[in-house]
Amino acid sequence: MLRVGQLVAFPTETVYGLGGDATNEHAVAAIFAAKGRPRFNPLIVHVPGLAEAEAFAVFDGRARRTAAHFWPGPLTLVLRRRSGSGLSLLASAGLDTVALRAPDHSVAQALLRATGRPIAAPSANRSGRVSPTEAAHVAEELNDRVRLILDAGPAPLGLESTVLDLSTETPALLRPGAVTIEQLSEFLGPIASPTSASLKSPGMLSGHYAPALPVRPDAVEAHPGEAVLAFGHEPQPGFAEILWLSRSGDLTEAAANLFAMLRRLDRPSFTGIAVMPIPDEGLGRAINDRLRRAAAPRS
Ligand code: TXA
Ligand code: MG
Repeated sequence: MLRVGQLVAFPTETVYGLGGDATNEHAVAAIFAAKGRPRFNPLIVHVPGLAEAEAFAVFDGRARRTAAHFWPGPLTLVLRRRSGSGLSLLASAGLDTVALRAPDHSVAQALLRATGRPIAAPSANRSGRVSPTEAAHVAEELNDRVRLILDAGPAPLGLESTVLDLSTETPALLRPGAVTIEQLSEFLGPIASPTSASLKSPGMLSGHYAPALPVRPDAVEAHPGEAVLAFGHEPQPGFAEILWLSRSGDLTEAAANLFAMLRRLDRPSFTGIAVMPIPDEGLGRAINDRLRRAAAPRS
């Protein structure tokens, strides 16, 4: 299906992706249409590993070392496009850079190797909505807009990849994720912060990752009719429903549960979704980033 330009949703270790042949303009255009995604927001191109990635982007020593260290894994690298590589221009939305990632998931790896093509794949949700961490979420979001969904159970990490821009002199974090800024700066030295860099990554507009209900991070007391995502200790009394992100206060477990639980609580029987405070360190930064976006005023 991918070889003839159709769309296939597939699991990765982060979230499910909506895949199409990244060398086929029609397939890439179909991804934007299926998601209702603005065309100025570029896609991540998935490859089995560094050897294949080098065909599509210019890797200097720093980029090569970073890919060798963190791939396969939840790190996307933004690099200068190699000209004449056959990659769709639409995939990188007309920019002179391309985002590349080698996923650490056996089904994704098998698919990439079997097709022998680079696969453009954004998260398999409608634009602006919460990313799918299970095949059933993809079906809910995209329905007949996708030909096939490969189901490998829940995505192990549950949060989208870290996006790191290596096209500039100082590496810049465009999206926090499972590979933490602590790990990156230990390996690469100083990293520019997401605030100054976020304009470069159009997908980082606030209002992304939004359930229909209002989301209230850092919640301590209950508001009437609210459900709560609990973390680390018993929530205050008064919430209409409690789901545990992690009882023991484990950030990895909380990240894996976050999107699926936001989906489960996103029902009109509640007035909103409160989320107990999450420590802003390590993976907690990525969780808080997604929660801030989910809570941002909607346009
Ligand atoms: O974990 C993930 O990264 C998942 C799985 C399926 O791999 N994919 C994913 O894709 O989250 P998407 O399209 O939902 O998010 C891609 C992010 C967006 O914020 C986009 O703006 C940014 O990467 N991006 C892509 N290409 C870029 C480029 N050339 N320069 C800057 N940002 C880029
Ligand atoms: Mg997305």
